[in-house]
Amino acid sequence: MKILVTGGNGFIGFNFIHAALRKNIHVTCIDNLSYSSKLNFDKKTHKNFTFMENDIRDKGMYEFIKKNQFDAIINFAAETHVDKSIHSDIGFLSTNVHGTHNLISICRILINDNSLPNHFKFIQISTDEVYGSLKKSDNPFTESSNLEPSNPYSASKTAADVLCLSYWKTYGFPVVVTRCSNNYGPYQYPEKLIPLTFSRINNEEKVPIYGDGLQIRDWIHVDDHCSGILSVLEHGKLGEVYNFGGNCELTNIECVKKIIKEMRPNEDFENHLLFIKDRPGHDRRYAIDSTKAFNQLDWQPKISFDEGIKSVINWYSENHDWVKTQLNSKNFIEWEEKHY
Ligand code: DAU
Repeated sequence: MKILVTGGNGFIGFNFIHAALRKNIHVTCIDNLSYSSKLNFDKKTHKNFTFMENDIRDKGMYEFIKKNQFDAIINFAAETHVDKSIHSDIGFLSTNVHGTHNLISICRILINDNSLPNHFKFIQISTDEVYGSLKKSDNPFTESSNLEPSNPYSASKTAADVLCLSYWKTYGFPVVVTRCSNNYGPYQYPEKLIPLTFSRINNEEKVPIYGDGLQIRDWIHVDDHCSGILSVLEHGKLGEVYNFGGNCELTNIECVKKIIKEMRPNEDFENHLLFIKDRPGHDRRYAIDSTKAFNQLDWQPKISFDEGIKSVINWYSENHDWVKTQLNSKNFIEWEEKHY
């Protein structure tokens, strides 16, 4: 099988490529390298891997996709940081909405011209943020929950998600949408809560906690998310949406506490926290019902948070050069100065 992974230099796409290569899938990756200038692959060791610097908004994608005859495209490419979208949303609309539209409209033309394989499938990597926020007493989100995004990032992901589904309903475009909860794992950029906590504690700095820190997220190890996407690639039904969650609801304080207890077992974790102004439009709680993925794809998360977070802390410690490169990048330094 030959697939195109867009945004494969990003955290989830990058981990997914490793998972796909382990299954002997031939992977072509495109990425516009917006955050990091260096792709982390040792290309020589992956005979089934090809990389091209490219942007999903590029009109030249038409010739590229036509020439390569992919069996599937998995669209990870996105601007993903909620806080950044609150400062400035234009790049989010451009990449997340127009980029996705560029890809699916090109694929639709190619399908009409019989220029893609009959079994071609487009997988849109969406997010649980499209559902908005839950109250403590609410049931977890199912695939038929209302879509009520709260911030420009999640609104842009919702637009892309429903645009893909509209292509299925209107044109029979062969798409499957996945909506996953909060991922953690190797290679996550330090702007997100878990790698930020690791970096701050490692540098003897306090961890910034928005508001009261009692917001709840459902954490999933990136490997579990990637195995879900591989199941969708193989068995996902066209026109369907699949939720993936980690069955692990934690308040932000609980999550950060687990990391600090692991890194500084003899210290009072509260001394490492710095409570700061809340995020505007901050979703209070996410929780995902993955019953459909379990029933239809035989998928369920396998890595417990306690086990997963230990291995991720080890990974960050062992790959400190990678972390330092990100922390010392112009992009990250400017972000920290502007935001915190
Ligand atoms: O739910 C899936 C989503 O998870 C993905 O679609 C997003 O791309 C991804 O960024 C993530 O969104 P969150 O906003 O939940 O992730 P983040 O790591 O930014 O924040 C997690 C929680 O921690 C959230 O309640 C905000 C809080 N937080 C975050 C940062 C960066 C803090 O309290 N302090 C911080 O400095």
